[in-house]
This record gives sequence, C-alpha cells and structure tokens, in this order.
Amino acid sequence: MAGTRIGIVGLGQRGLQHLRTLWSIDGAEIVALCDPFAGNLEETKIRSFVADDFSLDGVDTFARFSELMESPRMDALYFCIPPSRHDGEIVEAARAGLNIFAEKPVSLFQDEALAMDAAIREAGVIATVGFQQRHDLRNIAVEEFLRDKHLVMATWVGNGTLESHSVKHTHTEVLGGPSSRVWAANFAWSGSTVVESGIHSLDLVRFWAGDVAWTRADYIPRQADDVEDGGDNPDGYSVTFGMESGMIFNLLLTRLRKTFYGDGYQDIAWNRGHLKFETEGPVAYYYDGPYPPESSPSADSLRHPLPLPEGEDAMTAISRAFVRAVAEEDDSHLLNTFSSSMNSLAAVLAANASDQLGGEKVVLDDFLKSERYARFRSKGEAATAPN
Ligand SMILES: NC(=O)c1ccc[n+]([C@@H]2O[C@H](COP(=O)([O-])OP(=O)(O)OC[C@H]3O[C@@H](n4cnc5c(N)ncnc54)[C@H](O)[C@@H]3O)[C@@H](O)[C@H]2O)c1
Repeated sequence: MAGTRIGIVGLGQRGLQHLRTLWSIDGAEIVALCDPFAGNLEETKIRSFVADDFSLDGVDTFARFSELMESPRMDALYFCIPPSRHDGEIVEAARAGLNIFAEKPVSLFQDEALAMDAAIREAGVIATVGFQQRHDLRNIAVEEFLRDKHLVMATWVGNGTLESHSVKHTHTEVLGGPSSRVWAANFAWSGSTVVESGIHSLDLVRFWAGDVAWTRADYIPRQADDVEDGGDNPDGYSVTFGMESGMIFNLLLTRLRKTFYGDGYQDIAWNRGHLKFETEGPVAYYYDGPYPPESSPSADSLRHPLPLPEGEDAMTAISRAFVRAVAEEDDSHLLNTFSSSMNSLAAVLAANASDQLGGEKVVLDDFLKSERYARFRSKGEAATAPN
C-alpha cells in the first residue's frame, strides 16, 4: 500500500513536532511543507528539530498556501498555524478533497470554525483536531475507569508562569504582534489562556464526561503596568463548565510573571469516590468492601492506582490514528473528529464571552445561534484583552 502523502502548513513549534513524529511513522510520507518565512523552510533548521536523517529531497516547499494547493501530490494536510492567522485555507483544502489534521484551537471565532466544519462535512474528508491528550495512556485508563460512573464534579487547577511561554516561530514582529514572538501571551493572537491552553483540559474532561452545555467565567485582568510587549492575557481565570450529564467542571488557571514555579491539581469525583492524578499516574479513592463496614476502612484499602494500558506516546498515537483513518477512509480510528471537537471550541470561546458579559451563564446552544452573542462569534472586530 502506498503511504499517505502529507503536507504541513506552518513549520513552527508544532509543525516541527508533527514533522518529527511523522518522519518516523511507517505509512506517512512527507511531500510538502508551507511557511511564509523562508528561514522556517531551511533544511538545516528543520533537521535540527526533526532528525539527523531529515532531508528536503523529494519534499516540495512553498511560501504561499495558494502555491501549495497547486501541488497534486497530497492526500492530507496538517495545519499548524497560529489560530488568529487562518484565512480560508482549511475550507479550501476540504473542498479540494484533502484530509485534514488541524491544530487546536482551529480558530478564535466560532463562525469561522463552523465554516470549516461545514466544508469538511460537505466534502466528506477525514478530519481531526490535535487533542493528543486523548491518546495519553493515563487518560485512556481514566476514560475506561469512569465509563460506568455517575460523575459529579471535576476540578483542574493550573498554576502557570508567564515566562514558560515558548518563543514561537511566527515572525509576529512584522505582523503587528509581539516583538518577542511570544504570541501565546497576547489576547488577540491566542484568544486567552483558556482558549489557547485550557481547551486541552476542557477537551479531556469532555473525553471522560461528554459535552459541555453551558459556561460561566470570570477572568482577573493583568494590571496595565504588568503588560509588556503585548503580553496582555489575564493573570487568572475562574471558569465553570456545566456538562450535559449534569457534572460541573471547574477550571482555575493562572499565568503570573516573576513566579517561575508552576504546578497543578486534577481531580474528578463520581458519586462513590474521586480520582486524582499523582506522580505515578491516576489513582482512584473509593470503598469496595461490605457496606456498612465493621470498622473504618484503612487509607490503604481505599487507594486504587489505575492500571495503565500498553501503547505508545500520545503524539505518535494521534498521528498514527490519523494516517490510518486516511489510508482506510475510516474515521472510527480517531478519538475525536473535527466535528466532534467543535463543542470544545464553543465552550472556551463562550467562556470569553461570559467573562466579558460580567460572568453571565452562557448556554452553548444560544452561544451558537443567538444574536446576543454574534459579536463574540464573528471575526469582524479585532479582539482585545479584558480590562
Ligand atoms: N496540540 C498541542 O499540544 C499544541 C502545542 C503547541 C502548539 N499548538 C497549536 O499549534 C498551532 C501553531 O502553534 P506553534 O506553537 O507551532 O506556533 P509558531 O508560531 O511556532 O508556528 C506557526 C508557524 O506557522 C507559520 N505560519 C503563520 N501563518 C501561516 C500561514 N498563513 N500559512 C503557512 N504558515 C503560516 C509561521 O511562520 C510559523 O512557522 C497553534 O494553534 C497552537 O495553539 C498545539
């Protein structure tokens, strides 16, 4: 069987990571790379991130997406560009019959994402979004364990630091963005830490607990004199997501300057116990003896580390699943499709809207349709950080 011929759009941090992984997957053949900045397409630079044996022999490079689309050699495209820089490329690729792996978040605007999804559905191509945490063996173990449980509440605390943001490969300084190229710290480029990073946590909770029905959010703005080089994303975020099942998910994030120490806490409760992530992996705490017990159960008897399934790292697994889905024209190999991922995007974009509307409860069905939220869905006006 011939390999799946793949092009990558955007050879920055993420595109290079995908290229490194795809380079080692049997059945994946890299045929085209596209990036507007010539330095990002230089063989020596790419080789230093990918593999000693990387070579551009047999790989076409393009500065413009329109030129890439004239190449007849591709079965699938990976989109690894900043979410604020999409300009119809995914719609065009879908209409050309190309299968699509799009990095999260696929847009900062729900209407733009819906147009992508509509084109993908109409074309019937295979499409997914880069939520590789679903393929992490610890998270798969949790999904299997929670499958038959009545879920009550999940809590995710992420104490992040401003300095841990990566210097990216997009030349933001010539595109009206930060001169440091740290675009993930900027609201207009990243859509907030909830949209840029919290979407991973939210999508995982969806993997375990199903879709989001509503959200309510309060952000704590960064003080004006703490904004440097466009790094205007809020200091902190307190977001509640109501799941369709009735479970509540609390997402609490900070991104602070001059702290340098980050950590986190993840916990999920069902009606008979709770599960948290410890250093060794997920551990469930519950009682499984006769009820009522004759004496108080020991702490040891309540502690149940989850057995982990066998498998490979999440980055390899998500791309292998995509390559297989394309080769077999069967999206049942995916753990999330582009369409099934739309609820994750709507939930985090609705959190931004909720914060900007004073913390009102935003029901996602209304967020998608109601005139009240139209300005939060559309790409019309440039976004600015809350203050
Ligand atoms: N799934 C994950 O865990 C994960 C991790 C990191 C980044 N991401 C996502 O990947 C995407 C890219 O982020 P990154 O960290 O690689 O950013 P980056 O700035 O390092 O790389 C983006 C690349 O895209 C190129 N580019 C910009 N506009 C383009 C266009 N119109 N056509 C072709 N190329 C274009 C840039 O020159 C740059 O090389 C973002 O959506 C980000 O959120 C996902």
